[in-house]
Amino acid sequence: MQKIDVVTVDGPAGAGKSVATRRLAERLGIEYLNTGAMYRAIALCALRENVALTDADALTRIARERRLESRSGRVFLDDEDVSDAVRSPKVSQSVKYPAGAPSVRAILVEKQREIGLSRPIATEGRDQGTVVFPDALCKFYLTASPKERARRRFGEYQRRGETVDFDELLRQIVERDRQDSEREIGPLKRPEDAVSIDSDGKTVEEVVAEMERIVREKRREAGF
Ligand code: DC
Repeated sequence: MQKIDVVTVDGPAGAGKSVATRRLAERLGIEYLNTGAMYRAIALCALRENVALTDADALTRIARERRLESRSGRVFLDDEDVSDAVRSPKVSQSVKYPAGAPSVRAILVEKQREIGLSRPIATEGRDQGTVVFPDALCKFYLTASPKERARRRFGEYQRRGETVDFDELLRQIVERDRQDSEREIGPLKRPEDAVSIDSDGKTVEEVVAEMERIVREKRREAGF
């Protein structure tokens, strides 16, 4: 298979994919793509427009008709930077609907593929190494234990001044793992050819350094 100059980072919610992938992209001087933010942007749009989240056709229309773009690691919905708005607890609770709609996935997968074919990227999500970029040069599967992931999410909310219950957060993470893994299309699954990294007890810097070393080696071997 002809490889393309794309780095994929898949893994469960809260494993540290966003921060690690963003920093990795910075170090490599390539673009960062946050595909979870794309699914979240569809949910945000539906919430704002009072569209029923269970209406897959309406969600598909949003995905098709609204302009969803990724620029410098930020996600834009019709030119509005919604990168922060899509992180709200309400959007987090609603994102399973667009993520579970096969027709929405088909549209977003195509957009992601287009982006990755146009320039080198480091992209994070659930299906990047399996479905969207099976031909990616370098694939990672980043994990951490549910408790560690809940602690990280808890810290994120606290820093933003939002109050959430830790046990509730842990319950949501376990539930989201289940939904992500059991989804028929684009489920969370370790790509067979991915390098697995467990981020428990590791700093972001350690994780990124390990990834960077592997990517540089693979890029050198491939002549990119
Ligand atoms: O990584 P995140 O928490 O921002 O992802 C939000 C949701 O979107 C999550 O429930 C899984 C889903 N998702 C997906 O189905 N496929 C992707 N490539 C990325 C995220």
